[in-house]
Amino acid sequence: MTSGRQPLFFYALAGSLRKASSNRALLEALCAIAPSGITIEICDLIGDLPIFNPDREADDMPASVLALTAKIRAADGLIISSPEYAHGIPGGLKNALDWLVSRDEIPHKPVMLIHASHRGDSALEALTEVLKTMSVRLVEETSFRINLLGKTPEQRRAILADSETRVILMKNLQRFAQAIARTGADQTD
Ligand SMILES: Cc1cc2nc3c(=O)[nH]c(=O)nc-3n(C[C@H](O)[C@H](O)[C@H](O)COP(=O)(O)O)c2cc1C
Repeated sequence: MTSGRQPLFFYALAGSLRKASSNRALLEALCAIAPSGITIEICDLIGDLPIFNPDREADDMPASVLALTAKIRAADGLIISSPEYAHGIPGGLKNALDWLVSRDEIPHKPVMLIHASHRGDSALEALTEVLKTMSVRLVEETSFRINLLGKTPEQRRAILADSETRVILMKNLQRFAQAIARTGADQTD
């Protein structure tokens, strides 16, 4: 059991579209460790989204954007893991966030921000600022980083399978679930 409010659905956004992405691998490790009652789905739509254009928001929303917004609406929380590109947020992820800025799915949505490198603080700061501007509920106590930068696939697998790593993943996932459950309980009081 993870919380009083079950089941929970978390939608995960990877800032890297690389097949061998370490940030995606971190999200996959979270999916694999999720206890019963928590489902995590990794978004595969980011690479399909057209470049954000406010002119299309009214009555010409692309199908891929509608698919993204439906998932965001259904999610009890978002988990974001992104690399840093040129001291900033990767364009694909920023583009996805831009499509969500003016919509009602995102305000107050709980977000867990994680990272697969010991570097990349500028991107994390930028993401934090963007997410706060979008009025998400950043659950800061669940943020963590596991350094997979420059590791071979074998080293990465070993790090993600290590018992210390698994404790970090599980502990923060449970914290996230509990923070969401607490809000649900407050709202029903
Ligand atoms: C175009 C590009 C720009 C990058 N810029 C930075 C950077 O500014 N700072 C940094 O720490 N790493 C930078 N990196 C390295 C990536 O952040 C790093 O390799 C990351 O672990 C890749 O994540 P992934 O494995 O999920 O794709 C850059 C990589 C690329 C491809």
